[in-house]
Amino acid sequence: MKSATILDWLRTDDPARLEELWGRADDARRHNVGDQVHLRALVEFSNHCRRRCAYCGLRAPADVQRYRMTAGEIVDCAERAARRGCGTIVLQSGEDPGMTADWLAELIGEIKARTPLAVTLSVGERSDDELALWRSAGADRYLLRFETSEQELYDLIHPKFGSGLKNRLYVLDVLRRLGYETGSGVMVGIPGQTYDTLAGDIELFRTLDLDMIGVGPYIAHPATPLGRGEWIRPAPPSEQVPNTELMTCKTVALARLACPQANMPSTTALATINQANGRELGLTRGANVVMPNLTPVKYRALYEIYPQKTGADATSSESRALLNAQLRAIGRIAGKGQGGRLR
Ligand code: 5AD
Repeated sequence: MKSATILDWLRTDDPARLEELWGRADDARRHNVGDQVHLRALVEFSNHCRRRCAYCGLRAPADVQRYRMTAGEIVDCAERAARRGCGTIVLQSGEDPGMTADWLAELIGEIKARTPLAVTLSVGERSDDELALWRSAGADRYLLRFETSEQELYDLIHPKFGSGLKNRLYVLDVLRRLGYETGSGVMVGIPGQTYDTLAGDIELFRTLDLDMIGVGPYIAHPATPLGRGEWIRPAPPSEQVPNTELMTCKTVALARLACPQANMPSTTALATINQANGRELGLTRGANVVMPNLTPVKYRALYEIYPQKTGADATSSESRALLNAQLRAIGRIAGKGQGGRLR
């Protein structure tokens, strides 16, 4: 697909054309990755963060109560995830300098020894040596969104730390060379994000040949500069991408067409802006993954990257059964096994 075509789809509001886009994305999803919906258990194990991203509620030095789960608590979550039929555990945290590489390596080994789960890391930009250590400890996949492919916007919302977008793309390249299944993604509707930029983001998904792509709407957090309307480089109204459900779904659908074999979640952020059926919309417009939250309830409210964060839950056998019923209602089934990238 040419970028002119991507732009055209991003700008269309014609209901008949949109139906065509949803149909094409759903066909590509079924043909390339099938009807299974893979469940990745999300464990948000630390909300410490040294970064100051303009949009994120965990940004330093925000006045948030910080926590870091113990290895024992995390292994308990992994065993529960396996019992609930998840094939993967996603270990996510802020960019936590207090989390040492050796500690995480040992934890990965423990989870791999005790469960059949694939292990996905989502812990930010770390050194080549650390990434290599975790890979040799058994980590299978790594998520690191580039958030936007436009240098100037990237710099504006990620106050200088390391070398900006260039370093993020460098880390994605290192991950790939280390043999991780590599995931990235963007937020849709960041203030200052234009249609041209978003079309470029989708092009970059393809160039990077990503194994996983996560796309969710930007949600304003009032305790952040972007959420308060500061630090914004306004785009002309006709160029500004809206942070809506529709625009997120278009991006998911176009990402599926650009990278037909990628594993793509219907994201928590999409389920948050449409609590009634956001998850189902994502799954019927290109996505094939759900990430139920298995973070212990006492920590969940402290991991507030954006307000009102809700999503799939699979903590109890009841919530897990409900999820199965929701998948069945849209003609899908919960995935078996680790659900890695098919090649
Ligand atoms: N709105 C939506 N998504 C957000 N993220 C962080 N802050 C927000 C927000 N305010 C997303 C980023 C990050 C992922 C873990 O959460 O894309 O990569």
